[in-house]
Amino acid sequence: MSAVVGRRVKLARAGREMKGCCPFHNEKSPSFFVNDDKGFYHCFGCGAHGDVIRFVVEQEGLGFIDAVKSLAQEAGLELPEQTPEARERTAAVVGLHDVTASAAHHFALQLADTPGTAARAYLALRRITGATAEAFGLGFAADSRTRLRVALASHGDAKLIETGLLIQPEDGDGSREPYDRFRGRLMFPIRDPRGRVIGFGGRILGEGQPKYLNSPDTPLFDKGRTLYNLDRAGPVARKSGRLIVVEGYMDVIGLAQAGFADAVAPLGTALTEAQLALMWRLVPEPVLCFDGDAAGQRAGLRAALRALPLLEPGKSLRFATLPPGQDPDDLVRERGAGAFDAVLAAAEPLIDRLWRSETEGADTSTPERRAAVLARLDAHAGEIKHPDLQRFYRQELRDRFYALFRRERTPWVKTPWVKGQAPPAASPGVLRAARPDMAVAMIEQVLVGCLIRPALIDAAFERLAALRLRDQGQAMLLAAMLDAATASPNVDAARLRAFVAGFGADQAADAVLAHFRPGIGNLGFLRADTPEPVAAEQFIKFIDALLADARMGDDIAATNAHFRESMAEADFAAVRRNHRARAELCDKDRVIGIVAETE
Ligand code: UTP
Ligand code: MN
Repeated sequence: MSAVVGRRVKLARAGREMKGCCPFHNEKSPSFFVNDDKGFYHCFGCGAHGDVIRFVVEQEGLGFIDAVKSLAQEAGLELPEQTPEARERTAAVVGLHDVTASAAHHFALQLADTPGTAARAYLALRRITGATAEAFGLGFAADSRTRLRVALASHGDAKLIETGLLIQPEDGDGSREPYDRFRGRLMFPIRDPRGRVIGFGGRILGEGQPKYLNSPDTPLFDKGRTLYNLDRAGPVARKSGRLIVVEGYMDVIGLAQAGFADAVAPLGTALTEAQLALMWRLVPEPVLCFDGDAAGQRAGLRAALRALPLLEPGKSLRFATLPPGQDPDDLVRERGAGAFDAVLAAAEPLIDRLWRSETEGADTSTPERRAAVLARLDAHAGEIKHPDLQRFYRQELRDRFYALFRRERTPWVKTPWVKGQAPPAASPGVLRAARPDMAVAMIEQVLVGCLIRPALIDAAFERLAALRLRDQGQAMLLAAMLDAATASPNVDAARLRAFVAGFGADQAADAVLAHFRPGIGNLGFLRADTPEPVAAEQFIKFIDALLADARMGDDIAATNAHFRESMAEADFAAVRRNHRARAELCDKDRVIGIVAETE
């Protein structure tokens, strides 16, 4: 899009879009935007709007076909010449749209008339208003083998059969008459994205089997490439940035009546890749709604797995879980729009859905079983085609996995030291430096590191838990951050700050951040350009130095006391040795040196 537009309009990047001065009206300051992701342009000045073909049509005064040809040529694609047969096929399809439109009209009239009495009663029972029924073009197919065939006789049997409205009996000598497919059913017209009716779903009134009868696949209707209500929900979704995906026709309709106009449904089958692609053209993260019961959750997982290979940066799914046994239609009818809002608000990201399905109730009692869980998580990540995204998924799933077991086995309050490290000194390791300001400054670096790079908390969890800080505020801040990391792995900086504030440690956070200026000269782990694993390693070494210092501080106190008692030459030598060692350790440059070794 921007390549084509850019030849005529000088474009500059503006966030996710490009902008420039509108070629369709005269302007000095740019209000013309091109969105490559969504493939359209829009002018906020004059309202000009369209896709790349429209742009060429408008700018070059070409007809639609010629515009397509010129673009295809530019892209190095060859357009097949329209053969007479192809032209005929197009004409045939156009004719078919007339047939389905007539049928929808016929069904709607039936619903409004005497034959539709029972269907109207059924709709009333389902609390569907007349206005809603009209908006969705609902209709009724009379319980007759000939009603539609007769009413649409002018179109001819062949087209009625081709659109799936009549059934041609196959057995016998072919002399048997075609008959109406939909009989005694409430009719849901299915429309294409341009709003043209392409097929129907027909529901039995009340209980019975099959509950729904759908049009077969026809030249117009391809179930796997269609989403119910896409034509109406699409524009709303583009604006709201939200697309709700539910299971059934009645869910879409019930939601629309409750004010959720941005809902679509597949047609009774599992989501296809084509349907996912349709959704992603509208919004980056459609929300799929599934029943909270076991079957619904399995369906959700299946959709998640289907989506994995197709994920791209910024393109994902979210999963909303309904109360078990309820569909969205029941929920809004019984408990109102607010209840469904709450369900949407609680929708989980795809990675959470995946994580939950593999770990909830999973048997991890032996190393072999744990490894099996990890292997499944890895395999899911491996399904992702996009290389960076695949790496991020694998990394995050593994991080969560290890965090799970580490936390389970080593509650940090009790046994802070693991991983074969020397246990902390018998003393609590309170930091009291020969130069107290230095220790405080170094502690500040640690706390700032956690605040701006919360991943460091996870990386050095046990060590942080072993720190005993003298300053009450700082101690509280550290406790809050450890709590936050325990409560939600992979907490980000913003959520961490919110958590810290809730803990009443916001002032301490502000205080430690007060002297911090991002940039060169900072310890490596405080610099944004240090890669995550390197930063984690540096951070750990830094804290180890602090902890060693704390232990030495205790040792110094003991040596000093001893010397005061004995006043012996040997004890004085020990005191001096201690002081030299500590000076070395506390030296900021030296600590940075330790840190630098890992770079
Ligand atoms: P549901 O059974 O959830 O139907 O099937 P629903 O839309 O909620 O309808 P009500 O509330 O029972 O009236 C979900 C979707 O699966 C397809 C239809 O597309 C339906 O909307 N389906 C279901 C069929 O195609 N055939 C069936 O027999 C049942
Ligand atoms: Mn339902």
